[in-house]
Amino acid sequence: MCGIVGYFGPLNPKDIILSGLKRLEYRGYDSAGVAIIHQGGLKRIRAEGKLVNLETKLKNEKFDGRLGIGHTRWATHGVPSERNAHPHLVKGLSLVHNGIIENYLEIREALQKRGADITSDTDSELVAHLLAEEVEKTKDLFKAVQNVLGMLRGAFSILAIWDQQPDQLVAFKDGPPLVVGIGKDEAFVVSDVQAVLQYTKKFIYLEDREIAVVKVGKVQIFSALGLRLEKPVVELNWTSEQVDKLGFAHYMLKEIYEQPQAVVAAMEPHIDLKNQSVRLKNVGFGHSPQSLDGLNSITDWQETQNIFAKIEKIFIVACGTSFYAGQIGKYLIENIAQLPVETDIASEFRYRKPIFSKNTLMISISQSGETADTLAAVRLAKEKGLTTLSICNVKNSTIDREASGHMYMNSGTEVGVASTKAFASTLTVLHCLTLALAKARGLLNIETEKDHILHLQKVPSQMEVVLAYDKYFAEAANSLKEFRGFLYMGRGVSYPIAMEGALKLKELAYLHAEGYAAGEMKHGPLALIDSRMAIVMVVPDDDLFEKSISNLEEARARGGKIISIGTVDNLRLKSVSDRYLGLPKAHWSITPLLSVIPLQLMAYHLANSLEYDVDQPRNLAKSVTVE
Ligand code: F6R
Repeated sequence: MCGIVGYFGPLNPKDIILSGLKRLEYRGYDSAGVAIIHQGGLKRIRAEGKLVNLETKLKNEKFDGRLGIGHTRWATHGVPSERNAHPHLVKGLSLVHNGIIENYLEIREALQKRGADITSDTDSELVAHLLAEEVEKTKDLFKAVQNVLGMLRGAFSILAIWDQQPDQLVAFKDGPPLVVGIGKDEAFVVSDVQAVLQYTKKFIYLEDREIAVVKVGKVQIFSALGLRLEKPVVELNWTSEQVDKLGFAHYMLKEIYEQPQAVVAAMEPHIDLKNQSVRLKNVGFGHSPQSLDGLNSITDWQETQNIFAKIEKIFIVACGTSFYAGQIGKYLIENIAQLPVETDIASEFRYRKPIFSKNTLMISISQSGETADTLAAVRLAKEKGLTTLSICNVKNSTIDREASGHMYMNSGTEVGVASTKAFASTLTVLHCLTLALAKARGLLNIETEKDHILHLQKVPSQMEVVLAYDKYFAEAANSLKEFRGFLYMGRGVSYPIAMEGALKLKELAYLHAEGYAAGEMKHGPLALIDSRMAIVMVVPDDDLFEKSISNLEEARARGGKIISIGTVDNLRLKSVSDRYLGLPKAHWSITPLLSVIPLQLMAYHLANSLEYDVDQPRNLAKSVTVE
């Protein structure tokens, strides 16, 4: 996490860096800072808290240099404070760092023995000391970086500048993303292209242990050993998306309301509406994300089907909300495409020695495409010879680049740290993927395919209906204030939805909520139930309806208060609920796309009424690029 921006060029670095950091604030907002060349030295300004605090401090500051670096922090080592904020500055050498230096204890000890004056609690400052020592010896920042690279263990991306060479910036990474943007007589080095898309569309993506040296009008990339590398310059055809709240009070609320469009955008490439059939568009197994547009869609679809026809098992691996989407994918794929699916949290998968067999597909899901554990899981799967397919929102992100096949959420930028619209997009993509797998396996007759597509096509308008009930969700949220704990429950596809609902409440309203499979209630959680415990139960009209009603009766009998989310006009459900929220009737495979909305909105309204920052909840960051 943490966002980093470096700039070298004719414009004012302060403005470019600040505007870049604004677009990267989703990566961390504990503190921020800049270091910019000024009057032959380095002027550093830092502030604790959100970027706006730094902006205020910088308002009347002037810099005469054209080179600078900036950082917005998500704290790993050391509390959020100004003294732990980046850039770190040691004897004219300044750096910003995203990641974790794992061998920081031994480095710290060695530096202390050599008398280094360490002023923060961070691992990052130690790298600045190492680099300062090395520039002292080598008199060259690039050489110093080469020497220091071998001393570091962990996951890091770093930008360094030195006041004795005010005409160059050196960047290097091992783990978290780093991209060099190429402009006319200027260059940018950033964690995410979003930071500078308004200035350039040309980028070089750095791979691990590569070093970029940025000088006037010149960007050179080297291996750790100093070999000059010819790297492709990728030209993105993205517009710099205007991320605006469009009149909504928060990005999160806007993004919840964007879900109908998100579903359309996710399914559009893969569904032939005229013929009511599924045909995945340019999954491009074995091709890079940049080359997908040049593929012949008919040939690509044929190749994708050939690969899918051979698949015997699937792993779905992700973190957080993406993981819950993946769990719903398991129900879809097992039921419709009849393939065994194992789902796993990426941080478990990568360390648990899973048993791999032939003809296994590993689907990774990541909105950011940068989540460190999910990326490690993809690498492990590749190493074990699995076919990998990523579902990402950010095109060209590291996971997208490393996976063999590519599918996209197409959600547009998601700014709210709590994921909402990307969840809806992922479910839609998984639905299309499930139909494609079933088709490739000869399990989808024309009628069933048409039915599924019809169900999917109805989702956007059904979502609009759900969103129109927002005031009831706000009322329900208000009633949640009196409870001390929350049990979110569901069965089948509603079980991951219960977990997602509980996660939203935890991360936004800072309240303890557990997501549970309703059938598990008797095996422990029932002991928690009393009148101060709210049961939020997702109960669509499906095959498991009666079983869910029994669970609700059991909870009610123990004094639990029931908030149910079911199908409109279901009087039976209404009769066992203290508060009942009825949604449009939908096919079982579609219900998650609808039932998640009241849970998102209840968490949003509750957090908002408690005056918490819903777009940037405490302690969190949007892109988790460290383990
Ligand atoms: C929760 C949330 C997180 C992310 C998780 C994975 O609202 O946003 O749980 O879903 O950090 O992130 P990605 O999808 O970027 O890999």
